[in-house]
Amino acid sequence: MEEQLKNVFASYNGEKNELIPVLQDVQEKIGYLPDEAMCAVARFVRVPESKVFGVATFYARFHLKPRGKHIVRLCCGTACHVRGASKVADKVKGLLKISVGETTPDMKYTYEEVACIGACGLAPVMTIDAKTFGKLDPDKTKKIIEAFGETPEGGQS
Ligand code: FES
Repeated sequence: MEEQLKNVFASYNGEKNELIPVLQDVQEKIGYLPDEAMCAVARFVRVPESKVFGVATFYARFHLKPRGKHIVRLCCGTACHVRGASKVADKVKGLLKISVGETTPDMKYTYEEVACIGACGLAPVMTIDAKTFGKLDPDKTKKIIEAFGETPEGGQS
């Protein structure tokens, strides 16, 4: 990790106003923001560690825990909600055996719920990585997730 941080810091001057871009670059390199990395960033841009932790927890784009290879995001906006997103959510959580915001122990999937992603005509909608899947029901959801690879053993089918 030290080497990755060094590489990121090399493109900056270590000034306070660089905090967010530095955090973004660190996250891009490491995949998330481990505590040690945030402390190193605090020293580099010369702000208190509490400020770095505050910023990292405030913005949804920052992740403080390692994330899975595939990011499953289910829209829970109004249109998706009224068209059955909660049944889709139950299916995803049952298959992956995780709750919202969690990652499977094999680091294959992270499950997140998000607000409207602007594809209401396709409700209910989920994305897996950069792909969008619409007009979901529990069966269709199961097929889609299984097509991405093995689901955890004992995951509800
Ligand atoms: S509410 Fe789900 S895409 Fe708009």
